[in-house]
Amino acid sequence: MRIAEDKIEEVRSSADIVDVISGYVQLKRHGKNYKGLCPFHQEKTPSFVVSADKQIYHCFGCHAGGNVFRFLMDYKNISFIESVEEIAGSLGIEIEAETGHYDKKQSEHEQLYEINLAAAKYFVNNLVTSTEGKTALNYLKNRKLDQKTITAFGVGYALPGNNFVRFAVENKIDINKAKELGIIDSKDNNDYYDRFRGRIIFPIQSTNGRVIGFGGRIIEKNDNVAKYLNSPESQIYSKRKVLYGLYHSKEEIRKLDQAILVEGYMDIIALYKYGVRNTVASSGTALTDEQVQLLSRFTKNVIVLFDADSAGQKAASRSIETFLKQDFNIKVLTLPQGEDPDSFINNYGKDRFREEVEKAVNFLEYRVSSFRKEGAFDDPDKQVEAIREIVRILSFVNDELKRNMYIKSIAEKFKLREKLLENELLKLLSGKKENNSFRPEQRSPAGNHKGNEKTKLSENVFRLEKELVKLLLEGNEKITGHIFDHVTPGDFRDERFTEIAEKVYEAFMEDVFTPSYIVEKIEEDELKNYILSLSMEQIAISEKRWGDVITDTKMADDMWHYCIDLVKRVELDKIDTLIKENNDKLVSISDENEQKETLRLIFDLMNERKSVLNQNVY
Ligand code: CTP
Ligand code: MN
Repeated sequence: MRIAEDKIEEVRSSADIVDVISGYVQLKRHGKNYKGLCPFHQEKTPSFVVSADKQIYHCFGCHAGGNVFRFLMDYKNISFIESVEEIAGSLGIEIEAETGHYDKKQSEHEQLYEINLAAAKYFVNNLVTSTEGKTALNYLKNRKLDQKTITAFGVGYALPGNNFVRFAVENKIDINKAKELGIIDSKDNNDYYDRFRGRIIFPIQSTNGRVIGFGGRIIEKNDNVAKYLNSPESQIYSKRKVLYGLYHSKEEIRKLDQAILVEGYMDIIALYKYGVRNTVASSGTALTDEQVQLLSRFTKNVIVLFDADSAGQKAASRSIETFLKQDFNIKVLTLPQGEDPDSFINNYGKDRFREEVEKAVNFLEYRVSSFRKEGAFDDPDKQVEAIREIVRILSFVNDELKRNMYIKSIAEKFKLREKLLENELLKLLSGKKENNSFRPEQRSPAGNHKGNEKTKLSENVFRLEKELVKLLLEGNEKITGHIFDHVTPGDFRDERFTEIAEKVYEAFMEDVFTPSYIVEKIEEDELKNYILSLSMEQIAISEKRWGDVITDTKMADDMWHYCIDLVKRVELDKIDTLIKENNDKLVSISDENEQKETLRLIFDLMNERKSVLNQNVY
């Protein structure tokens, strides 16, 4: 079913997010906002904030956030359409299926999901009913999988010929879309063939359980073809953003407040069969920031369990850094040589596996002991290298207190002076500032502005621009209009701010520019989170007045004057930078005409500066 855009807009603007969320979370008033314990991760002190003004929520702990629809979608694991229907129902707004124009992109996505689902069902059917499927089924049974587990993960089989192409034609499935999804492919434009033919199929599901792609494994060992073939990137599948198994494990992860990260499809499925159900895999890619962020919505505690081969151990080390950047507590579990989680649990059983999990060690101990195994402490040169490497890993820990504790513990283990490690760490940290942090807030101002050129974006400019962006996110027409009269999105020197200002600008042009609307249009999670957290921050002027009793009109008035003042400061700053650049240039040029030209430019800029100063918009 599709719902017209304006209907969705009607539902959004009629719903009150505080009412809706109150039905599920106990909220207490806190200044202009409401606060409660976040339903998306476990916490003891509330960091889940709901804004009635802006009709959005944001958790400062796990970064979950969005508008009223997003809340219901995530809380109840339902689709966007279902969330709109549910809220419409509670408000008594009638919605009927759309016939005419509808949101094109959304409907296209729906079609792609439908094709994937049809394909997944088709593959399952092959496995269970066809004669050729018997070989595949036997293979899976030999790998100790039972029918229940096979069904739970929708494991299927792609027949050796081009049967899906035939199936698609018979069922009027759009061939081009099936190709876009990578289920079929063609040499030239009509010679279609099944891309996964002859492979066991593992459907890849989104966090909400929709089939977004497939992984296909060969049955017989063959060194000439890849063991696994995965779906290509598509409008509905981005491998960077997906964790395999999360749909099946999210409840358990939340409950245990812990996840186990493994490498492969079969690891997830085998562990699941034995009742270990808090597992996810990054399947087919090195662990990404996006995947870690996704996981952080459910827990911040992870056990990294990669294969006991050198590739697995390298990947484990890399993933530690990715997790550290987002403040995870990380333990590492190493299985006996030659085992992976799937083989281990099948060989030794569930209890032995649980014992191993208990033995998982803190990530630092893991690194230290792997260096020890390599003999790094028997040779002074290697020892220096090892220490540098460990300090480098430590530099990813954002929390200073934690960092210091780690230093203490390594100092003991290495029998080193703490001071030495501290100095080494300081050297590193001052070199990279906070560039490495995943949090956009910290990446700026030093790391994120345009071109990475020599001049560092000063703290001051960053703060100024940030205030302006916060004002843009107030969703006030007069204020937004005034800002865009004087400052264009490209004027922001922080790249991220430019990006946000562009989004607001687009929405402003469409006459709907509330944060709730804007976040819905953004697909990139990191940016969305950043916008949400920014719009929950107080504007500096209201901070100053926090606690004062001020009327709404006084507040609006103050905000307006503050806006005028800010815009002025940003304009002046822009002019000052240009003046400085031209002054610098003046020193280095010798051509007389060019000198004159530059002087004239500086003079013009000075005049412009004066007129901005005297501008009166009040
Ligand atoms: N992988 C991939 N492409 C490959 C090899 C591996 O995408 N050519 C991904 C798959 O998601 C796979 C994971 O990396 O599940 C781990 O690879 P590997 O350890 O080689 O496979 P297993 O999961 O152990 O699979 P199996 O036990 O069936 O050999
Ligand atoms: Mn394996």
